[in-house]
Amino acid sequence: MDHSTPWTDDNLMSLQSHVLAGERAHPGATGDFSWILSAISLATKTIGNKVRRARIEDVLGELAAENTHGERQQKLDVIANDVIKSCLGSRANIGVLVSEEEEEPTVLRTRDAGGRYAVLFDPLDGSSNIDVSVGVGTIFSVMRLPDEGKGGVDAVLSPNATIVASGYVLYGSSTVFMLTTGDGVDMFVLDHSIGSYVLAKRSVNMPHTRAIYSINEAYSKRFPKGVTSYLDWAHTEGYSSRYIGSMVADVHRTLLKGGIFIYPATSDRPQGKLRLLYEAQPMAMLVEQAGGRAVTETGQRILDLDPTDLHERTSVILGSTGEVDQFLRHVQTDHHQ
Ligand code: AHG
Ligand code: MN
Ligand code: MN
Repeated sequence: MDHSTPWTDDNLMSLQSHVLAGERAHPGATGDFSWILSAISLATKTIGNKVRRARIEDVLGELAAENTHGERQQKLDVIANDVIKSCLGSRANIGVLVSEEEEEPTVLRTRDAGGRYAVLFDPLDGSSNIDVSVGVGTIFSVMRLPDEGKGGVDAVLSPNATIVASGYVLYGSSTVFMLTTGDGVDMFVLDHSIGSYVLAKRSVNMPHTRAIYSINEAYSKRFPKGVTSYLDWAHTEGYSSRYIGSMVADVHRTLLKGGIFIYPATSDRPQGKLRLLYEAQPMAMLVEQAGGRAVTETGQRILDLDPTDLHERTSVILGSTGEVDQFLRHVQTDHHQ
């Protein structure tokens, strides 16, 4: 029986009902996914509230501690991480929680004990911008763990683990939840007056081209030659530059308006800066699902990379297909010279 209701612009649809409707449309669905997503939704509402009240509650600024990447943690990084763990920790179908902020993953239960999924997250992306009220966000992906084996970290790194959903929440001038479960990208906006994410746009589609690049150009002396020659070309073509410095905010603009986001490898960071599992792959899935492209500098599809380390880094080039193709043309030409 088809339970789906025809969509019209007048229907009010919460994130929760949207996910439930998706599950009902798939015979045999277990409801696992809505169970996980409701915890993510609760966590991000709580984090968004903390972010907005940070100055009032005096939780801005750095901690003395560094995170697992040798970066200074903000107080809010730790708060956001704790909120996610407390919201997701009790969901019986989650085996492992993996956070950018923690060296070791939290193993909640083995595969035999029902831990069928891993949730990977960057609790607060762009956190060094928080003192100046710039948009920050939470990035996550949900991975289905292989049936064989014990679960745990090995399962997360297994080539048989598959990302079944990705998303982010941008705590900006409005709070936006972008979600893909592999069937396009849907956009929800938090209606603070009712405390619910409501569907704002189905099937977000990126423009095929847009003359905007987003890169930290101050590092240009440390860029590979191909990146510099791409930028020279973009300057002569009259491109515009937009760089916020919070990946969530930069990718959100790129998803809606088109353009290209580039965080290349640099001479001082030959692997790149962004983290494959918490930042690059979830964003790559969203971008591809919105009709765009997400690759490394060598043109390899980010979603095809198999991590060998949870905290692995990668170069990231993502955005409108036409723009990413143009970038790769320069990088590859440079390669063959
Ligand atoms: P995080 O706050 O989670 O450590 O991530 C910061 C990342 C990302 O949000 C952004 O794209 C990038 O760092 C900016 O780096 P630069 O300051 O080197 O441009
Ligand atoms: Mn981040
Ligand atoms: Mn972070």
